[in-house]
Amino acid sequence: MDSGLENVVAAETILSDVDGQNGRLVIRGWPVQLLAASMAYEDAAHLLWQGFFDDLPDVADLGARLGAARVDAFRLVTQIPDGLDIIRFLRTGWSLLEDDESLDSAIRLAAAGPVFTAAAVRRERGQAPIAPEADLSQSADFLKMITGKVPGEAEARALDAYLVTVCDHGLNASTFAARVVASTRAGLVSAAMGGISALKGPLHGGAPGPVLDMLDEIGVPENAESWIDDALSRGERLMGFGHRVYRVRDPRADALKAAVARLPGTSGRIAFADHIEKTVLGRLAKKYPNRTLETNVEFSTALLLEALQIPREAFTATFACGRILGWTAHAREQIAEGRLVRPRSVYMGPVPEMA
Ligand code: ACO
Repeated sequence: MDSGLENVVAAETILSDVDGQNGRLVIRGWPVQLLAASMAYEDAAHLLWQGFFDDLPDVADLGARLGAARVDAFRLVTQIPDGLDIIRFLRTGWSLLEDDESLDSAIRLAAAGPVFTAAAVRRERGQAPIAPEADLSQSADFLKMITGKVPGEAEARALDAYLVTVCDHGLNASTFAARVVASTRAGLVSAAMGGISALKGPLHGGAPGPVLDMLDEIGVPENAESWIDDALSRGERLMGFGHRVYRVRDPRADALKAAVARLPGTSGRIAFADHIEKTVLGRLAKKYPNRTLETNVEFSTALLLEALQIPREAFTATFACGRILGWTAHAREQIAEGRLVRPRSVYMGPVPEMA
């Protein structure tokens, strides 16, 4: 019995490899740092979906189809009820899409992510949604649908770097959930429902918003040690630190830190965050001398998305907009594998008395 399944290998994949001992992440043969520095969202979609859809067009056509699908998705925004937080708004919007196993379904999911996330942000602020512009890149359009302004090249590239960095990560909880659902042949939308529901938890994709809450509560560098010690003495987990697989620093943390540093006006915030990070790591090393707890992707995510003026309540939904590429590719890989996922359990309850 392995309750967290950490020693269970449940799939063979050609999508990504997480080397937790050495802090390396390879996505379809490429180190994540290289992808983060060079790829747009559309390139990453093409890279992940290659070999899983016979009708995959070239990157330029794929970008055009994503743009057209954003416009289609916008028509559904009015059908999403009020009163949902941003991640549930996205989940509800995605659930309205046609559910099959086709490339169109994957494109609709990927394209609708930013449309629903941006509309949810604006609805929370009491603002009308902004219609997508099919000719913009997916990242530029995402930011424009939130702010109303076409972003500069640096901002659009920074969002690309984020979405590409988180597009896939081995058999993490949400991807496993997506694969389990896909194995039942329920369709890619259903698989994405499984993925987003697992992602929303604070131990998985819900961490980056609370990272900013922590930075805000600490406020000034002088408060760091006492704030952190208090939190640890209450038995709290510090968001943005620790990982189930990495025993060293999460390579995505530095890929994203480099992307934040490329944005103008971020040096002060980075210096403050560096101080907090160092203090947390020192305190965690003292509390858990036999266990390496390092910085994970969520710490730098928080800084990057904050610099792009994406509100913290939308961080998990933005994560889902990147990871949807991995969920859909893994879903197709699982479908090709052709095996229903159905593990066994050990019954520990009462047994009936036999006559
Ligand atoms: N802050 C304080 N203590 C921690 C933290 C943390 N961030 N992470 C682990 N610990 C403690 C655990 O409570 C445990 O202590 P215990 O033995 O006294 O119970 C000890 O360190 C060892 O924990 P692990 O077995 O390494 O933790 P696990 O593999 O179960 O959890 C997880 C990994 C869930 C990511 C954990 O580190 C955590 O909760 N981190 C904070 C949330 C977070 O940042 N999540 C994002 C992860 S990245 C991603 O999903 C995209």
